[in-house]
Amino acid sequence: MSRKIIRNGRIVTAIDDYVADILVEDGQIQAIGRKLACGSDTESIDATGLMVLPGGVDCHTHMDNTFGDSTTCDSFESGTRSAAFGGTTTIVDFAFQRQGVSVLEAIERAQAKGREGACIDYGFHVIVTSVNQQTLADMQHAIRHEGVSSFKMFMAYPGSVMVDDAAIFQAMRMVGQHGGMIALHAENGTIIELLIQEALAQGHTAPKYHALTRPAIMEGEATHRGIKLAELAQAPVYFVHLSAKEALKHVVEARDMGVPVFAETCPHYLFFDESVYDSEDFDLARYVMSPPLRSKEAQNALWTALRTDDLQLVSTDHCPFCMKEGHLGRVNQKPYGRNDFSRIPNGIPGVETRLTTIHDGGVRAGRISLNRMVELTATAPAKLFGLYPRKGTIAVGSDADLVLFDAGQSHVISAATQHGNCDFTLFEGREVTGTVRKVFLRGELLVDGEQWLGRAGAGQYVARGESGGW
Ligand code: URP
Ligand code: ZN
Ligand code: ZN
Repeated sequence: MSRKIIRNGRIVTAIDDYVADILVEDGQIQAIGRKLACGSDTESIDATGLMVLPGGVDCHTHMDNTFGDSTTCDSFESGTRSAAFGGTTTIVDFAFQRQGVSVLEAIERAQAKGREGACIDYGFHVIVTSVNQQTLADMQHAIRHEGVSSFKMFMAYPGSVMVDDAAIFQAMRMVGQHGGMIALHAENGTIIELLIQEALAQGHTAPKYHALTRPAIMEGEATHRGIKLAELAQAPVYFVHLSAKEALKHVVEARDMGVPVFAETCPHYLFFDESVYDSEDFDLARYVMSPPLRSKEAQNALWTALRTDDLQLVSTDHCPFCMKEGHLGRVNQKPYGRNDFSRIPNGIPGVETRLTTIHDGGVRAGRISLNRMVELTATAPAKLFGLYPRKGTIAVGSDADLVLFDAGQSHVISAATQHGNCDFTLFEGREVTGTVRKVFLRGELLVDGEQWLGRAGAGQYVARGESGGW
């Protein structure tokens, strides 16, 4: 039996804040208390002066995900190592039901990648791109027997992953009856496609046109439509990467009416705004993600919504593509769209910077409380996606996924010192106060300062319970 005791840390959960010891036995929290007694065979870690946070749960990452001709530059190994250095110990990534691959095969393939590469624990949502009776039966099976209770569907990207309203409605109706939830990428795909084609026809090929052809009002429209479909289907619905005030408005209204609508936003929408799209420079490809960055006013509204629980989660949408073609052998990265913004792979890195940026720009800036930070980045994701109480909190019986956090220690964020494969971070050069010192996964030390003690394949697949019931 392996035993560790973490002494004198300031334990911060979504609701607690106190100093105590944590006894860990065989990967789980065995006891929490002051001056806990333990045998001499117990390894002792002094956490005096440090916060002890539950390991982060990031429910929106894309490790080794292929979109069109481009594959994200992080493998399961590099991406989960990066996550661990950022204080995240569980991710929910994506299995992809594409042409000729069933939902269940998609899960199997994704699990195989995780088994081989994951350094932290992981689960999957399935991206569903077509719906028929077999798909619906497979989804039901996935919820009940595979620990996959959430499914992402795209209202954008026609001709590739977009599904129509009827498909979304059918899927919602089924998962709503079986403890699952549909996560929607809400942008009006056909209108956006029209705007893209018009922009290209006028010779507008630069990255900034990515943002100009994806207006906030079309995120609002799709969000409203998604909510109405969910209401009719009597199912919970989750909006990924919510960025626009026009979308938030509908989420707030629905929640006020008691409709089970949930939404996340991401750090990039909280720290950057559309003013970056100010030139025709290709370097702006680093800001190409969907939805694009929005107004300063929208950013303020997102922060308010995080405080008031109109938004429930901060996820990263870690979907990294390199700025330099060929970096670490990766091809079809951002330069793939040098002459046509619509070919720039959509997405940016972020899995390593969530905790420190939200702590610095959220808690220290007085926008959210410390408890709320933990709730947004660990507890709420675990609850909403069927991982709680095994993950997302510090409690007797929970997995000993623990982050020792030095809230007063500053550091400067740089891609050069990060631990994933991407060659840039939007936060380059930003000084943040708050540094991850040690990270434990089920009691095993993965990160010790700059030292990496983790291992590919050590992460476990976590079969999730029901989603959307919280
Ligand atoms: O630009 C983004 N968000 N890329 C990742 C895929 C998605 O839509 O989440
Ligand atoms: Zn999306
Ligand atoms: Zn995504």
